[in-house]
Amino acid sequence: MREKIEEIIREAGALIRERFYLDKLITTKSTGIDLVTETDKEVELFLKARLGKLIPTSAFWAEETDSKFTKAEYLWIIDPIDGTTNFVHQFPFVCISVALQHDGRTIYGFVYNPILEEFFIAEKGRGAYRNGKRIYVSETRELSSCLMATGFPYDYKAEPNNMSHFDRMMEHVQGIRRPGSAALDLCYTAAGIFNGYWEFHLQPWDMAAGILIVQEADGVVLNTDGEEHHLTDKGLISGNKIIVEKMLEVFK
Ligand code: IPD
Ligand code: CA
Ligand code: CA
Repeated sequence: MREKIEEIIREAGALIRERFYLDKLITTKSTGIDLVTETDKEVELFLKARLGKLIPTSAFWAEETDSKFTKAEYLWIIDPIDGTTNFVHQFPFVCISVALQHDGRTIYGFVYNPILEEFFIAEKGRGAYRNGKRIYVSETRELSSCLMATGFPYDYKAEPNNMSHFDRMMEHVQGIRRPGSAALDLCYTAAGIFNGYWEFHLQPWDMAAGILIVQEADGVVLNTDGEEHHLTDKGLISGNKIIVEKMLEVFK
């Protein structure tokens, strides 16, 4: 099953790669800076058609064409392009994010960047991998040696808009990046590149695959109340256990 899913995602990734350096047809969604391109929709439809055939009884929770939750034994949670603004501007931090849930538990997480050729995969209980090599979160214990990642909502007026959180964290760490793809931010945290990552107002398709990848890399993903994150609209905080506790302290 894992290989078959991987193959389908690689094929979908080729569509993103082919169009990456071309002009895109862009429309906006929730706000004037929330973009969507024809490729987002095309990739999503491709994935639904092909993944649906693998498990005929499965359902979809997908950003562009199925954004309402459906209860199902097998549920695919899909972001066809995470990092659409990057895609539009040809900044190569874009990916496809696919999670598969069984009875509400994520059993697989796939995040594929077809431009940088990085494929992150986790299977529940079997570890997390980047291009076939096992990955782990960093062992850093001090915020002062951390490179953090974060993101900001498309609606600047959303509460919180992360500005004061960014400001507070800045005082404690080596640096903060805003790469523009929540799924890859989680994967880079899983690989120990970022020592921590937080963000508010994420959608399930931004984080479902990445959360499993961090957990399988021995990391933790909590909400801003310090509980395990269950794809709700609460803020997300990730990293190793010690760093996550320290991040929660900073945000208190
Ligand atoms: C966005 C990216 C971004 C995050 C936003 C997401 P999209 O997804 O993950 O990093 O800050 O919250 O909505 O729109 O590119 O699929
Ligand atoms: Ca997204
Ligand atoms: Ca998207």
